[in-house]
Formats: sequence, structure tokens, C-alpha cells
Amino acid sequence: MNKGLGDMAAEGGREHPSLLLCSLSLNLILASLFLRASPFFRRDDELTWSREAAAEAEAAAMVSCSGHGRAFLDGDLSEDGSLVCDCNSCYAGADCSEFLPDCAAEVNSGDPLFLEPFWMKKRGSSAIMLTGWHRMSYSFGHGSRKSARLERAIRELHKVVGNAVTDGRFIVFGHGSTQLFTAAVHALSCPPPSHASPAKVVSAVPYYGAYQLQTDLFKSGEFEWQGDAYSWKINRSSVPNTRFVEFVTSPNNPDGQLNRAVLKGPNTTTIHDHAYYWPHFTAISEPADDDVMLFTMSKLTGHAGSRLGWAIVKDKGVFQRMMDYVDLNTLSVSHDSQLRALKLLNVALEKNGSEIFRFGYENMRSRWLRLERIVSHSERFSLQRLSPLYCNYFQRVSGPSPAYAWVRCEREEDRDCAKVMAEAGIIGRAGIVFGADPRYVRLSLLRAQDNFDLLEHKLQALVAQEEYVNTI
Ligand SMILES: Cc1ncc(COP(=O)(O)O)c(C=O)c1O
Repeated sequence: MNKGLGDMAAEGGREHPSLLLCSLSLNLILASLFLRASPFFRRDDELTWSREAAAEAEAAAMVSCSGHGRAFLDGDLSEDGSLVCDCNSCYAGADCSEFLPDCAAEVNSGDPLFLEPFWMKKRGSSAIMLTGWHRMSYSFGHGSRKSARLERAIRELHKVVGNAVTDGRFIVFGHGSTQLFTAAVHALSCPPPSHASPAKVVSAVPYYGAYQLQTDLFKSGEFEWQGDAYSWKINRSSVPNTRFVEFVTSPNNPDGQLNRAVLKGPNTTTIHDHAYYWPHFTAISEPADDDVMLFTMSKLTGHAGSRLGWAIVKDKGVFQRMMDYVDLNTLSVSHDSQLRALKLLNVALEKNGSEIFRFGYENMRSRWLRLERIVSHSERFSLQRLSPLYCNYFQRVSGPSPAYAWVRCEREEDRDCAKVMAEAGIIGRAGIVFGADPRYVRLSLLRAQDNFDLLEHKLQALVAQEEYVNTI
């Protein structure tokens, strides 16, 4: 039988006790070296090459920006080399503690920062470390440009939430769902039958303005923007054999309504934009099962800057044409973003999504209630009407929690509602951007808490003026 170093030392040790001691020490040193090198026994504070990156990330997170901003690793540097705070709108100063009293409430953009506090709470589980060599290639090992794990996580989340059918469906990734607008329009309107006129791309007013802007920009022999779907419902017989592609947004941006297609029948295809079909913003009544459905990380986890959206597609040919479009347009979606999205979705999936969706819903619901309360005292302004609905995900009736307020100016003289708001220090998005009457303005409710607080304050003051005038 082979004898180990310890055994031999033990035998020999009868004659040489110092040799036994020496051997024991050597064994102890070797064992401790082995344990230190083994990943199973290494402690977090014993990380090696990643320690510097982790320390850098934590240092950025520690910069105090008074709760009105944050410092980022790629942010500007001050003269002493320290990171500068990115302040929320209406806050300034080195640590964002200075409130700018004359500043307007910026509620124009749909920047979904309402979820930022959730991710700060989940700082440990949501952080990722990108190695210098992370997926440098144009493609993943198997030749595809999509992370198979990300695709599985997306399918799993839809199943958990019950908001979309994914079994037997194809998934296309895009640089945000914005890239997929034209990918889908192209895929549905090509190849055109010979001598056919371009497909008419339409959407029901009020529609998300980017559909029009993008379709106009990429207009071709295949398709062109043709405005309001309702007007074509009436005029359709004047253009027999014309193909239509309709954008259906549900819940709708700007008014939160659960829209359905306006145009039906042959030669009509639809792109269902379900960016807001998540429990933060609406009750989930059934799994959507439309031909082409768009979703985005931007409104699900709030990571608009990561630019990752996806389409769920029924038909293989449409899927292939959309893939070809993304391929020609940008080759693929950033592999860094795919890794980040995977990490974030895995956090979102914890406890079957209950943490993120409860946080999101409670925030959006409380904002809507606060806004509704203010407008209920006004005769000058009105809000869209939304009803409580049974939510299969929460398994109870949930009250409205829309991403935007769609405000109408009721007074005859207030023809330009965005102007009325701007004069009161509220910067919203004018109704005409949505193809609607300028009597409407959209106010974003999903921005950072500072933006919402200021909106609430300014709107309260505007409505109070009305009450004051009524008393004199
Ligand atoms: C209805 C709708 N679809 C798509 C988008 C854009 O999503 P993404 O950030 O994924 O491009 C928005 C953004 O506000 C939106 O409101």
C-alpha cells in the first residue's frame, strides 16, 4: 500500500519527533492553500481580480446625492477626480441638495424611473460584473446572436404573469421595441404583390407618436403612414385591395385604454404593442395571443437605457423577415445588454414576480389616486376614465394605475392644453403629438418621485387658482 507523506513521517517519527512536526506543518500549509484556491471555500472578501471593479461600483453607489440624484461609474469627474452627481430635474449643486424654485415639472418623457428605488433595494442581486472579454464576438458560440437563457427567462416571465402566450411562438430581440416597429411593418408589408400600392400604416387616435415619426422616416415602396385607423374604417371601401398594417397599443399610450384593432378583415394585419401590459400599469385579464406582439424592458423593469425589446411572433415567415431586418439594421442586440436583461429578469422572477409587480403597482396606483384627487376639485381639467378590473396575476380586482394622465382642458378658451400647463410650470406632451386635439395633454406619471412630487405641487396650485376665482 502506498504510504502518504504523513504516514511515513509518523513511522519515522518514532525515531525523529522533529520530522513528524515538520510533516504536520507542511500538510497543514498544503491543505490551507488548497482550501483557499477552491471556489467552494473562498469567501467573498477574498475575491481576486474582480475586487477592484466591485469596489469601484460600490464607491459610485456611495456618493451622496441627497436622494435627488445619483452618481454613475461613467459619470463626469470633478477636478479632484471624484464622481459628479447626476441630479434629478429641478435639483442642482454638487450633492443635488439645491432645489431650483422656479423650475417647471418635467413630465413630458416616459422615462420609467419610478422603478429605480426597487433596483436600489435589490442592489446585490441585480448587479453584474462585465469581464473585459465578455462576449466580444459578433455572435454567441452556437452562431446565434441571441442569449438562449434570456429568451427562456422572457418566456418564463410571460407564463408567470399570464400576459402573453409564448408556447410555439418565435421571439425576436430588438434595440428597444422602437427598432421593432419598422421591423414588424416591413415584415408584414413585404413582399408587396406586383403593382400593389404601399401598405397603409395606421393607428387609432390617440396613438403613440413614434409610430408616425418612424414610418415617415423609413417610408418606402412597401409602406407609408396614413394616420388614424378610425378614418380608414369609414373610408376603406374607397381603396379596395389596399393592404393595411395597424398599430394597436394596449394599454394605450397616452390614455391607458385596453385598445383592440379597429380595422378587421382581409388585407389587414396588426402589430400589438403591449409595452404597458404588465401588472404595474393595468390588470392582467388574459394572456395576449396576437400575431405580432411587442414588449420592452423599458416599461417592465424600467431599464430604458439598456435598449432591449422583443417581439413574440406567430408566423415563421414574419419572424424570419423581422430577424433579417434587425440583422441588416444593427446585426444584433448588444450582448452586454442581453446579459444585464437576463440578470434583471431573474430578479424580477423571484417569488413569481410578486416583489417587482407589487412595488410597481403600489407606486403607480398611489400616484394615480393623488392625481385623481386633485383633478376631482377642478372643472377646468378632466382625466381619462379607467375602471377597476379583475387582475388574474394579483387574483383580485385592481384599481387603475396608468403610466400617463391624459388631461383634457374643458374651458372653451383653453384650446391649447399643453400651453395652459406650461404657463403653470408643467411640461407635458401636447395632444397633437398623438394625432389628437390640442385640447389634450399627456402628463407622465412614471418618472422619478421628484418629478411626480413637483407635478402634484404645481397641479394643486393650478386647480387652487380655479377654486379661488370661484370664491370671489
Ligand atoms: C407604446 C410604446 N411602445 C414602445 C415604446 C418604446 O420602447 P423602447 O424603449 O423599448 O424602445 C414606448 C416608449 O415610451 C411606448 O410608449
